[in-house]
Amino acid sequence: STMRRLVIGNWKMNGSLAENGRLLSALLDQSGRAQDAELAVCVPYPYLAQAAQALDGHKAAIAWGAQDVSVHARGAFTGEVSADMLHDFGVRWVLAGHSERRAYHGESDELVALKAEVALAAGLAPVVCVGETLQQHQDGLAHEVIARQLGPVLALGAERLARLVVAYEPVWAIGTGQTATPEQAQEVHAFIRATLAAAGAAQVRLLYGGSVKPDNAAGLFAMEDIDGALVGGASLDADEFIAIAAA
Ligand code: G3H
Repeated sequence: STMRRLVIGNWKMNGSLAENGRLLSALLDQSGRAQDAELAVCVPYPYLAQAAQALDGHKAAIAWGAQDVSVHARGAFTGEVSADMLHDFGVRWVLAGHSERRAYHGESDELVALKAEVALAAGLAPVVCVGETLQQHQDGLAHEVIARQLGPVLALGAERLARLVVAYEPVWAIGTGQTATPEQAQEVHAFIRATLAAAGAAQVRLLYGGSVKPDNAAGLFAMEDIDGALVGGASLDADEFIAIAAA
């Protein structure tokens, strides 16, 4: 699309203090090559302070985020991290309902929408992730599945929807090297756009995720309703991540 591109790296459960230090400084060194894009990295919780320290003062170049958030504000919720805690570390973005959270932690559509709501209330920008599995894809159920996933999110209303981002990540394309073709992705993005438009939120940025690499990014970004990318594996390599953002 012609909108300013948003490219977010999802490091998932990767990295170390040493590796992250190298990656963050390489990203800062190279971010000038991707000036037309808005960049962010979503790091594991323990490394938020490291990202904040490395990127603070360069926030305009690369923002940072988390990969999940608790729906609770505080209290006896062992292992969870609240939206206010993330805000404390300068977090801008937070993923909500990544397919790995849905699959391995049973996150429901209602819970994901609640996470988005709680994040917004704390001044964070949620990236609500949706997408169909391979079986659902083969059964022609993609639209139906995505409409169901978006249902409780749409109920947040136009004003809040305007402050979040939706990422379409077909589960069959995540970490498989089998990316959706630009046409396949665009077809679903157009459906998501229409669904959001009906809720008064046509301007929401729509990211594509699933095996985005430097060699397929330009084709995806050329599509009308693809406003950026949520990048997993390739976000662990500064050259690849910046090349995607510059595509
Ligand atoms: O959040 C990112 C997605 O799960 C995509 O991961 O680029 O490794 O396929 P991937």
